[in-house]
Amino acid sequence: MELKLTMLDSNALVHQIQAMRDDGHLSDALLRYAVKNIEKADSRFDWVGVYLFDAEKNDLWLHNYVGSPTEHARIPVGTGVCGMAVAEQANQIVDDVSTVENYLACNPDVQSEIVVLIRAGDDIFGQIDIDSSEKAAFNTEDEAGLQAVADKLAEQIAAERR
Ligand code: SME
Repeated sequence: MELKLTMLDSNALVHQIQAMRDDGHLSDALLRYAVKNIEKADSRFDWVGVYLFDAEKNDLWLHNYVGSPTEHARIPVGTGVCGMAVAEQANQIVDDVSTVENYLACNPDVQSEIVVLIRAGDDIFGQIDIDSSEKAAFNTEDEAGLQAVADKLAEQIAAERR
């Protein structure tokens, strides 16, 4: 098994992303860097991806990910854990995905999931989505760390849309 550190150092990752911004990297590179490094950081994180919100189609599209291939390249707002996060404008922590009615299974090993929105206030740009093969793998501490990363990513996306 691949050896991973036990916790995401979100402060360090936020600083690295800012350093990339200072060097002129755009959101595409930052989103890929964030996904790769979040996945590497924690053995509970089996699938890590970023979905971006398409306001015209009112759905999410899969920008990049690390983990098993998924058929969920596009997810309508309101569908699955990812789509509910946008519909409710709220992060989601699901301890047991088998209890979610309209859950979109990425692979049968997944037990729990967290979705953290990439947003600037009410303006939702997308989300960080993480699956784990452990039940109840995610807590509010994970959410806070991931939110710090998501907020830094949102700064760059907002700057590119101005
Ligand atoms: N499980 C998610 C779909 C994305 S896959 O996990 C990669 C959902 O229910 O929205």
